[in-house]
Amino acid sequence: MIKKALLTGFSSGIGFAYAKHLVNNGWHLDLVSQNKDRALSALDDLDYDHCFVHSCNLSSSEELHNLIKEISTPDLLIANAGIGINGSVGKNTPRDIQDATYLMFEGVINLIEHFLPKMKEKDSGRVVIISSIGALIPMPKSSIYAAVKSGIYSYGRSLNEELENTNVSVTVSLPGYVRTNIHKRSGLEHLTKKIPNWMWVSADKVVADTEKASKKGKSHIIPGFLYRITSIFFDLKITKIIWKTLNARK
Ligand SMILES: NC(=O)c1ccc[n+]([C@@H]2O[C@H](COP(=O)([O-])OP(=O)(O)OC[C@H]3O[C@@H](n4cnc5c(N)ncnc54)[C@H](OP(=O)(O)O)[C@@H]3O)[C@@H](O)[C@H]2O)c1
Repeated sequence: MIKKALLTGFSSGIGFAYAKHLVNNGWHLDLVSQNKDRALSALDDLDYDHCFVHSCNLSSSEELHNLIKEISTPDLLIANAGIGINGSVGKNTPRDIQDATYLMFEGVINLIEHFLPKMKEKDSGRVVIISSIGALIPMPKSSIYAAVKSGIYSYGRSLNEELENTNVSVTVSLPGYVRTNIHKRSGLEHLTKKIPNWMWVSADKVVADTEKASKKGKSHIIPGFLYRITSIFFDLKITKIIWKTLNARK
């Protein structure tokens, strides 16, 4: 039987690693991207017949609404697309905040609210939300990012519990640092040199741990053993001080 996945933000980073994983496992893919050049280049790299690219700016409710009409209910929905909105309080414009919030929170909810009831009707399907470790620990000068990622984490965890006793699951993935385009795109390139090597998880590891957790129906997963262990100590003052020092934004 054909398995169909819908993946947002496939053109680079974690999304591209997810697309590769799904290709290797024979999934048919609906892939979403806003940037035509990056989408075409990624598609070329995937070199796979069973994928269809949908062009959509996921910060736009109108475009998301039209996208939803083009796509039939997937067996797996991965809400991955995101940006690294950052800046001290007052630095982001209301428009920046609205776009980031729609992209990584409200739009994700709209996407899931559309497809999840249909998965429930079939009593089959999985949803994966790529949140961030920033949902669990303060992120000074990235407070909007942390807020959005916490919000979507809370939504996904609640849904997972709501779906108990069904064959449908929602799993929220909370990655730490992953080497992708996100830091350069959001003006945080200095972090790629400042963050020590041991704090980086590979995109492939994020995908492997997330898929494993999703297949088990888990509500959430922190990819990478080190982050999982460290997260136990996130509430300690010393952990917050070390985290703040390592993560300092300019
Ligand atoms: N890298 C990390 O350290 C890290 C850590 C924790 C969580 N995350 C999360 O992981 C997810 C993937 O990020 P990444 O690190 O893989 O970054 P990335 O390499 O920059 O990829 C981001 C993806 O999101 C898509 N995207 C961005 N804005 C979009 C929009 N308005 N409409 C449609 N697509 C859009 C991009 O597509 P286009 O090319 O079409 O713009 C791209 O495919 C994000 O949700 C991010 O918050 C990343």
